[in-house]
Amino acid sequence: MSDNWGFETKQIHVGGDPDPATGARAVPIYQTTSYEFRDTDHAANLFALAEVGNIYTRIMNPTQGALEARVNALEGGCITAIGLPGTLAVSSGQAAETLAILTLCESGDHVVASASLYGGTYNLLHYTLPKMGITVTFVDDPDDLGAWRSAIQPNTKAFYGEVLANPRNNFLDIEGIADVAHANGIPFIVDNTVPTPYLVQPLKWGADIVVHSLTKFMGGHGTSIGGAIIDGGTFDYGASGRFPNFTDPDPSYHGLAYWPALGHGSFILKARVQLLRDLGMAISPFNAFLILQGLETLSLRMERHWSNAQLVGEYLAAHAQVENVSYAGLESSPWHERTRVYGGGKGFGSIIAFDIAGGAEAGKRFVEALTLHSHVANIGDVRSLVIQPSKTTHSQLSAEEQAASGVSPGQIRLSVGLESIADIMADLDAGFAAAAAG
Ligand SMILES: Cc1ncc(COP(=O)(O)O)c(C=O)c1O
Repeated sequence: MSDNWGFETKQIHVGGDPDPATGARAVPIYQTTSYEFRDTDHAANLFALAEVGNIYTRIMNPTQGALEARVNALEGGCITAIGLPGTLAVSSGQAAETLAILTLCESGDHVVASASLYGGTYNLLHYTLPKMGITVTFVDDPDDLGAWRSAIQPNTKAFYGEVLANPRNNFLDIEGIADVAHANGIPFIVDNTVPTPYLVQPLKWGADIVVHSLTKFMGGHGTSIGGAIIDGGTFDYGASGRFPNFTDPDPSYHGLAYWPALGHGSFILKARVQLLRDLGMAISPFNAFLILQGLETLSLRMERHWSNAQLVGEYLAAHAQVENVSYAGLESSPWHERTRVYGGGKGFGSIIAFDIAGGAEAGKRFVEALTLHSHVANIGDVRSLVIQPSKTTHSQLSAEEQAASGVSPGQIRLSVGLESIADIMADLDAGFAAAAAG
C-alpha cells in the first residue's frame, strides 16, 4: 500500500537493514498526517484493529514506528497480539509518564511513588494528578520495601520510580519493589532515562512498564524533545482484579475489553488507541528521525559518558571545596554495589550532584565561571552541562520537598559530556577557583 506520495506506508524496516521497498538505508521522515485507504473495507478494518496500518499520525506513523521498534528492541519490550512492537513514542518524557499513568489510573485511583524524582515528575505526581482525582503516596526511602507495602490501598493501580534517580543517584531496588507490587496485583512503572537500556533493562528485573525521556541520552544531542513507553507484556490485568478499565468493555472503542482480547501488550495498545487518540501528545516525525540518529551511537556515547563521569566523580570526591558527592560510581555510595550488579559494571551513570563549600553563593560563582559546560536545564547531551537544581529544575518544590527529592540549596548538578577529560577538568578547576575567590 502506498500513501499520497507513493511511499510504502506499512511499518518500515528496523535495525539498520535497507528498506525493502525503497532500498533506503536510513529511515525516511514521513512528514505526513494521513494515509490513503485501499477501499472502505480497509478503512473499517484499520479502525477496528482487524488489520494493522497507518491511519493518522497522531496515532501512528512509519518514522515513529521505526523509532518504536528500535526502542522496543533495546528495552526488551513485548510484541503485541496485533504485531506492533510494545513501545509507544510520544512528544516528551512528561507525556510518556502522564500517558502511562492515565492508561492504568482513573479519577479515584492511587499511585505509590519513590520520592527521589526529577522535579517535573514530582510536580506531575504531587500537584497535577491529584487535580484529576488521582492521589499519590510518596515513599521517602525507596529502599524501604515495607514502606511501599504499607502505602498500598484498595485503589492503588501503580508503583512508580526512577531507576537511577535524578539527581540523588540512588539506584532503585527493582526486583524487591516489583515483588511487593506483584504480590498485590499492582504493575510497576520505572523511568529508565538516566541509565538507558545499554546499562540496565528493567523489564528483565521485574518492572512491567518502562518510561523514557528520549530527550536525554537516547537522542543524545540536545536537539529534540521526545518520550517513550515500553510494555513488557507480562502483567496480568485480569488476575489482578484491580483493573475494570481493562476488563470491562470500552464504549469509546467499539465496546472492546482490552484484557483479555488484546492479551499481553494490551497496556500499550490501550495507551495508543484510547489515550493517545484522545489526549494527542504525538511525537513529530522529524523529532522521531533525529532521535533515531542518536540511537545509532547510544552504546559508544554511553561508554564515554560513563568513563568521563568516573574520573569527574573521583576528582570531586577528593576536592577540598566539595562537601559531598552523589554518584553511584564511588565505592562510598550506598548504591554502588546495586548499580554494579544491575549494570554488570559497565557504568554508574553520568549525572553527578555535589555540595560545594560556601553554599548557594559559592555555587553561583562556580556555575558562572564555567565556559566549557553549558548552563542549561537538561541532562544527557553530548556536551557537559551544569545547573543548580534548587534554583531551577526543582525550584517549584518546597524546601522539604527538595530535601525528599535529594536536592540541597548548595547543590550543583553536572551532566558529564563527551569532551576530552582534560578540558572538562580544566573547566571545573576554573569554577572552583571562582567559587573560592568570592
Ligand atoms: C529522569 C527524567 N524523566 C523525565 C523527564 C522529563 O522529560 P522531558 O523533558 O522529555 O519531558 C526528565 C527531564 O529532565 C528527567 O530527567
